[in-house]
Amino acid sequence: MFYRPEDGHGLPHNPFNAIVAPRPIAWVGTRGRLGDNLAPYSFFNAVAYVPPQVMFASTSAKDDRDGTKDSVAQIEETGVFSISTVAFGQRDVMNLTSGPHPAGTDEFALAGVAKAECETIDAPRVADAPATLECRLTRVERLPGAANRVVFGEVVGVHLRDDCVVDGRFDLTAFDALARCGYRDYAVVRDVFELKRPDD
Ligand SMILES: Cc1cc2nc3c(=O)[nH]c(=O)nc-3n(C[C@H](O)[C@H](O)[C@H](O)COP(=O)(O)O)c2cc1C
Repeated sequence: MFYRPEDGHGLPHNPFNAIVAPRPIAWVGTRGRLGDNLAPYSFFNAVAYVPPQVMFASTSAKDDRDGTKDSVAQIEETGVFSISTVAFGQRDVMNLTSGPHPAGTDEFALAGVAKAECETIDAPRVADAPATLECRLTRVERLPGAANRVVFGEVVGVHLRDDCVVDGRFDLTAFDALARCGYRDYAVVRDVFELKRPDD
């Protein structure tokens, strides 16, 4: 089949985010005037090595925030945020933190997620995450569409949970890394193989 997005896909559900999948999940921790906030974003990736940089995208707005969601609003307020990665065992609490909670709701408390302080920035992070990236905002880009924004940040601190580092490597299978697929589907990383590059 072929379709132009402007004409519709004709399927029961939009296949778009099942095509661009699986995606890592950024569990974004922020602090603002209204308090601490935690929410998952899977339009997320690394975009540069030196200095290390990441992005995530927010795609709609909440009524109680001015044209965006809590995470972007708080990052614009403070210029910093943490991104924690998610283990399979954290899937339900991660999902709880995605609810459309009123601005000012502390999703760490709401979902029972242990909170820790970042080292280099004034932001909360998920205490027992497999890894956390402490980020300083570099820019927020507005994309076409009502509330589409991409947040770019430079990574200024990195936490790795000790049991996730195996033989000197951050091992995704040590914690069953969780990834987002389309629809309400997820994937878990339990099977990893290596491919040498032609010039290795
Ligand atoms: C696994 C997962 C991934 C998500 N990814 C995104 C995303 O990439 N962009 C987005 O705008 N919302 C995404 N959401 C929805 C947000 O988490 C949800 O709108 C949340 O209420 C935003 O919280 P905030 O207003 O506290 O930032 C995702 C939800 C889940 C469960």
